[in-house]
Amino acid sequence: MKPTGLRIAQISDLHFGRDVPAIAQTLRAELRDAAPTLIAVCGDLTQRARTVEFQAARAFLDQLPAPALVVPGNHDLPGWRVWSRIARPWRNWRQQMLTDANGTVIHTGDGLVAVGVNTARQWSLHPDWSRGRINIRQLNEISEAFDDAPRDALRVVVAHHPFLLTEPGRYRGLVGRSRLALQHLHRRADLLLGGHIHLAYSGVVSGLVIAQCGTAFSDRLKGEPNSYNLIEAEGDRMTVSIRRWDGDRFDTHQRTEYVRDGHEWRTYS
Ligand SMILES: [Fe+2]
Ligand SMILES: [Fe+2]
Repeated sequence: MKPTGLRIAQISDLHFGRDVPAIAQTLRAELRDAAPTLIAVCGDLTQRARTVEFQAARAFLDQLPAPALVVPGNHDLPGWRVWSRIARPWRNWRQQMLTDANGTVIHTGDGLVAVGVNTARQWSLHPDWSRGRINIRQLNEISEAFDDAPRDALRVVVAHHPFLLTEPGRYRGLVGRSRLALQHLHRRADLLLGGHIHLAYSGVVSGLVIAQCGTAFSDRLKGEPNSYNLIEAEGDRMTVSIRRWDGDRFDTHQRTEYVRDGHEWRTYS
């Protein structure tokens, strides 16, 4: 089973300021060869939300070989520069990314509808402000975009914070309101994409495929090499391939196959 109809490259946690240029260059070349339908960029484009880091991120995005859907992460906020964080949290983002950070981003066509939402928050009741959250407005906007899409389009949500954790990353916490989001998206969405914890894996929750991405080319490793995901889908079949950096190039480390029964996905075995 090798779906080839639609191909999404998922990259995340670029962390310009802590990027490794040789890996970034190799990734860009690989993406050119892979010819994806869409490149989903799951946030943390910068290390400290500085102008020079955003400029580097912008230059990288401008050279990508396919349309990119980009969402911010917590590192794209001004960290502990408290005044900036409160008064103008997304100023640098807006100036360099040329999008409203809090707006929903939608890509349609080529057999898919992908909706990007900003789950990073400028402050939180939780002491760990790196944690994110999804809200009702965003869920409603996702639903509206999906309702308007052709029936057979693959429905994809692009976010930064995770909807699924594995043991090594459990201490980072799920995106706030993840349970509500999963209930809301049940039978509405096909695929949720996230980053943030710099660990790559995929799985099924509530009938949705969830794919988490490692850091594509930063040196901020959390116990595993740099990676990106290549997701291929056709009809009721989907594969998620984790492509890991081996010191010279990216190589397929793990490929997981999924199949859809009715509106629900499950692991294919
Ligand atoms: Fe990150
Ligand atoms: Fe993050």
